[in-house]
Amino acid sequence: MCGIVGYIGQNEKASPILLDAIKKLEYRGYDSVGIATINNEKIELKKDSGKINEVDKELQLKDMEGCVGVAHVRWATHGYPNKINSHPHTNNNNKIAIVHNGIIENHEELKKELISEGYVFKSETDSETLVHLIDKFINKGLNFQNAMIETVKLIKGSYAIGAISINYPNELIAIRNESPLVVGLGDNGNFIASDVPAFLKHTNKVIFPEDNELVIMNSDNVTIKDLNGNILDKKVETIDWNEEMAQKGGYDHFMLKEINEQSVVVSDTLSGKKDIENIVSKLGNINKICFVACGTSYHGALTGKYVFESFLNISTDVIYSSEFKYFSNVLDENTLTIFVSQSGETADTLSAIKIAKNRSKTLAIVNVLGSSITREVEHVIYTKAGPEIAVAATKTYLSQLISIYLLAIYLSKNRNNEFYENMISQIEKVPTYINELMLNEDKIKEIARKYKSYSAFFFLGRGFIYPTALEGALKLKEITYIHAEGYPSGELKHGPLAIIDENVIVVVLAPSENPESFSINSYKDTINNMEEVKSRGAQVIAITSYENGERINVNDIFQIDNQVDELLSPLVYLVPLQLLSYYISIYKDLDPDKPRNLAKCVTVK
Ligand code: F6R
Repeated sequence: MCGIVGYIGQNEKASPILLDAIKKLEYRGYDSVGIATINNEKIELKKDSGKINEVDKELQLKDMEGCVGVAHVRWATHGYPNKINSHPHTNNNNKIAIVHNGIIENHEELKKELISEGYVFKSETDSETLVHLIDKFINKGLNFQNAMIETVKLIKGSYAIGAISINYPNELIAIRNESPLVVGLGDNGNFIASDVPAFLKHTNKVIFPEDNELVIMNSDNVTIKDLNGNILDKKVETIDWNEEMAQKGGYDHFMLKEINEQSVVVSDTLSGKKDIENIVSKLGNINKICFVACGTSYHGALTGKYVFESFLNISTDVIYSSEFKYFSNVLDENTLTIFVSQSGETADTLSAIKIAKNRSKTLAIVNVLGSSITREVEHVIYTKAGPEIAVAATKTYLSQLISIYLLAIYLSKNRNNEFYENMISQIEKVPTYINELMLNEDKIKEIARKYKSYSAFFFLGRGFIYPTALEGALKLKEITYIHAEGYPSGELKHGPLAIIDENVIVVVLAPSENPESFSINSYKDTINNMEEVKSRGAQVIAITSYENGERINVNDIFQIDNQVDELLSPLVYLVPLQLLSYYISIYKDLDPDKPRNLAKCVTVK
């Protein structure tokens, strides 16, 4: 939520660089945008509500002068999205400008105090408190850096802050606590950002500051200090992402590009097999698994329950991160708590880790290198999906599933080597199955066009494929705003059947049976449940790998390769569901990359 960027260079104008960088972070929020630079010993400030391109058109953001600046995209928490509440915020004599991502929990009491001391607040945001506090400490005689240090000592909450001051024109300072911040080391200037894609065009050399480490940068040097002013020796890491990965690459939307990348993503995630095997060798005795995640990642975790319980006969819980604190008593030293998160920054999941980490073994499955979650757990599996820019998760969900399958397979390797070999060779075929079904994309377009105007969808699945039904419903809600529900096929008759009629579309996921599988073959039961909705008038779309799929009598069928049985189905069936949501969104003339009210990285609880 909210994205921040900062740049300091020698000769290069900051505003076009900042504008380009902030566009790469638009997935973090698109309520408003703003840039502040230091120009001729003055802060130049342009900001407004609206998406970046709209605001840029109106204000010509890239025409701002100066070689140092900060920029922000906002996902509103405190204060309506309007010009005044947009960042950057400046102090009363316009000498300092700050951008902030996070929430200052004690802002009201700080604000009261500042007002009593004569500070005038322009906005309704919690963030404005920061700029007045920095100003107050500078007025007391501290330098810019120390004023920032004293400010963060007073505030409670989460923050990533970037700040500039006309009295320190060769300095950009930044600090974080529980909100993402990464430093980029360029050849022609240095960067701060909420996420690496912001500056990938300029550099892939990064430093990940820890909480409450102060970043001080000029155009050719970066220093990181602790709150006592000691200089810290930080590791410079090279990220193996490139600029192209964060571009649309000829696709109309990031979401479509990311869906199309999935067959490659499977291979990339599989290339991390050895790392997973290595982690497994260090886990020791485990008698219980507890998955913790939110949203799409929760659906990955729920698939994990089916996989772990079937492959390993191990008791597995799945808990929403925001609900975790109510269940944490059941953890012990032989429990492995697995946190699943694309961004590695989700506040609810981070809070859950803090509870679990002293009570159980902890492992995280994360996409973003160096993100906060990766620093809090004992073991990390990186999903290697590359940057995901569209707000709705697609390729990262598949990479989570592959990682979860691999983890379970490696945990079971010693018990059953034949099963291990067989599963690995099956998963290696997933890219082929995905490529095959992508050839049939037109069928999905046809279905999307036909059903785009309906206002209620159900997604049904049993066993391994049930969490995919939940994911299909979530994708549709997120990017088309159509009401959709995912259900276990057998549950409908216990209530929801009452709302089924000819105005409801039911998408039935019906994978073929696996003769040797652990799964309790569900095809026939699923088809019976499908008949129940058909006979109540619902229009049914079946997605099936059953080889006689064409003979199922429904309104539309999307055929999956018949080798994709129940066990493998979560790794393949998600793709037509993602495409269905994408094309319905397109036919409804919506922007699938930027769904209303949402942001990709949810750093508030
Ligand atoms: C849905 C989506 C969200 C996220 C959720 C958790 O498409 O992207 O539901 O899955 O906010 O985010 P992460 O995985 O970053 O912890």
